[in-house]
Amino acid sequence: MATQGRTLVTGATGKVGRQVVSQLLAAGTGEVRALTRTPGTARLPDGVEVRRGGLSTPAALEEALRGVSAVFLLWPFHSAGPAAAVVEAIRRHADRVVLLSSGAVVDGVAAERQPHPVGRSHAVVEQLIERSGLRWTHLRPATFAANTLWWAGQLRTGDVVRGAYGAVPMALVHEADIAAVAVRALAEDGHDGAAYALTGPAVLTQVEQVRTIGEVLGRPLRWEELSREAARRQLLADDGFPDAFVDALLDGHAGMLAGPRPVTTGTIEAVTGTPARTFRDWVADHVADFG
Ligand SMILES: NC(=O)c1ccc[n+]([C@@H]2O[C@H](COP(=O)([O-])OP(=O)(O)OC[C@H]3O[C@@H](n4cnc5c(N)ncnc54)[C@H](OP(=O)(O)O)[C@@H]3O)[C@@H](O)[C@H]2O)c1
Repeated sequence: MATQGRTLVTGATGKVGRQVVSQLLAAGTGEVRALTRTPGTARLPDGVEVRRGGLSTPAALEEALRGVSAVFLLWPFHSAGPAAAVVEAIRRHADRVVLLSSGAVVDGVAAERQPHPVGRSHAVVEQLIERSGLRWTHLRPATFAANTLWWAGQLRTGDVVRGAYGAVPMALVHEADIAAVAVRALAEDGHDGAAYALTGPAVLTQVEQVRTIGEVLGRPLRWEELSREAARRQLLADDGFPDAFVDALLDGHAGMLAGPRPVTTGTIEAVTGTPARTFRDWVADHVADFG
């Protein structure tokens, strides 16, 4: 990959952003700056310039953008919020942006008509970027494999995962693969104007995901189906799960069960030259997180 200027990574302390930071450093394509609201607890690697700030603190964002040529943009809000100001600030400083959007965005549907609330906010940001004059690439990942860590609490106290919609099929994607595509799009030519649908290499139901986790951990794990109401009560009682997201999650799963079976895209391999990691790979990389 070509050497380039400085890249600002937002969401640098998150699952995908941490990988973007470490993979940019490993690629040695230029200086890496990270934005976080809490530098004291960020635990970012040596070699990264850490800046305090958030996307809704304009002065800090402006400072962090100074001298930057490319931005990895994570949208952490469940609404479009300050999107117009953020995109305009990026445009003033950088010439390229790679957005971590979502597979929930439906192509060819106007932002306000997007069927999924998550897709709606991401579609607004996508659209602002497309109209900004920046060089852009959108990453639209499928469900993150890391979402299965929501079960870690249940698995610390037993061998059963209780939940609703066990038959929901998902093409789970590894955060390291999303980041690998991001790094290519940030540091190489040839990705301008692309909206990449990123999936893992296989489709697994939640029941199959639990079985796979058990196989890797060497434990006989199983899924136990709950009614939606029982699953809702369980999620609301779970301190590790945001209450505001409970209904959106259950609605999303109900929609996925009723909708067409997800397809795998092969885009990760097409962009990076390396096959997408399997869910089994992801569990093996995260065994300690289930302990
Ligand atoms: N989970 C899925 O299945 C899925 C699928 C497709 C797309 N997505 C999208 O992926 C994104 C989440 O990525 P992730 O899981 O890697 O993140 P994450 O692990 O949940 O971490 C959230 C990150 O957002 C940052 N953040 C929070 N509020 C912020 C603010 N006001 N200003 C700036 N940064 C802020 C945090 O940084 P600090 O706390 O350090 O400031 C942190 O680095 C979301 O946009 C989501 O819609 C998720």
